[in-house]
Amino acid sequence: MKIFLDTANLDELKKAVAWGIVDGVTTNPSLIAKEGIAIEEQVARICDIIDGDISAEVVSTEAKEMIIEGHKLAKIHKNIVVKLPLTRDGIEACSEFAKEGVRTNVTLCFSPAQALLAAKAGAYIVSPFVGRLDDIAQLGMELIESICTIYGNYGYTTQVLAASLRSPLHVAQAAEIGADIGTMPFKTLDMMFNHPLTDKGLEIFLKDYAKAFADKK
Ligand code: G3P
Repeated sequence: MKIFLDTANLDELKKAVAWGIVDGVTTNPSLIAKEGIAIEEQVARICDIIDGDISAEVVSTEAKEMIIEGHKLAKIHKNIVVKLPLTRDGIEACSEFAKEGVRTNVTLCFSPAQALLAAKAGAYIVSPFVGRLDDIAQLGMELIESICTIYGNYGYTTQVLAASLRSPLHVAQAAEIGADIGTMPFKTLDMMFNHPLTDKGLEIFLKDYAKAFADKK
C-alpha cells in the first residue's frame, strides 16, 4: 500500500520524507487554509519536497469553473492530481478531465454507490473517508472493503485511497483489505512506529551490551 501524508505543512513533510516511506501527499482546502499560503505557492513547495502524486483540490462548485481551476492546478507541476468533490458537477468535471488525460482524485466519498460513479467517470483516485464515517458511528472500513470488491468485480483501475485514517489500526486494516493508498496526518504516521516491546527490547539490548563491555574500555 502506498503511504500518502494528508498535510500541507512543509515541516511535517520534510520530517516524514527523511524516513523514506512517503509516496505522495493529499491536501484539501482546510489543510491549505491552515498554512495561510495561496494553494499554487504551497503546492509548488510540496512538489519540491516529494516526488509523488500531490492532490490539490478545487474550491469551485460548478463543473465549468472546476475545469478551469483544475487546469490551472495541473499546470503547477507534472505530479499534481486535481482533487474534485463527489458531486454531480465534480463527476462531470472528472469525466472531462479523464477524456483529456488529466489525473483526478474524487474526494468526499462516503458510499459504495458514489465510488462506482467516480470509477465510471474515469477518476485516477477515489477518496473514501474512514474516520469521518466512524465519527458518526458507521464502520468506515466497511466502505473500503465494499469499494475494493466492486472495483475488483469489474476491473476498474481507479485507485482506492483510504482517507481520514486516524490511527495505526486504521492503516493496518486498510492495507489488509487491499486499499491502493492510505493517506494520514503526520500524527498517525508517527504513531505507526510505536510499540512498547520495541522500546523495552532496545533498552535491554543496549544495557546488556554496555554491561558486558564496560570494564574492557
Ligand atoms: O484530506 C481528506 C481526509 O483525509 C480528511 O481527514 O481527518 O479531516 O477527516 P479528516
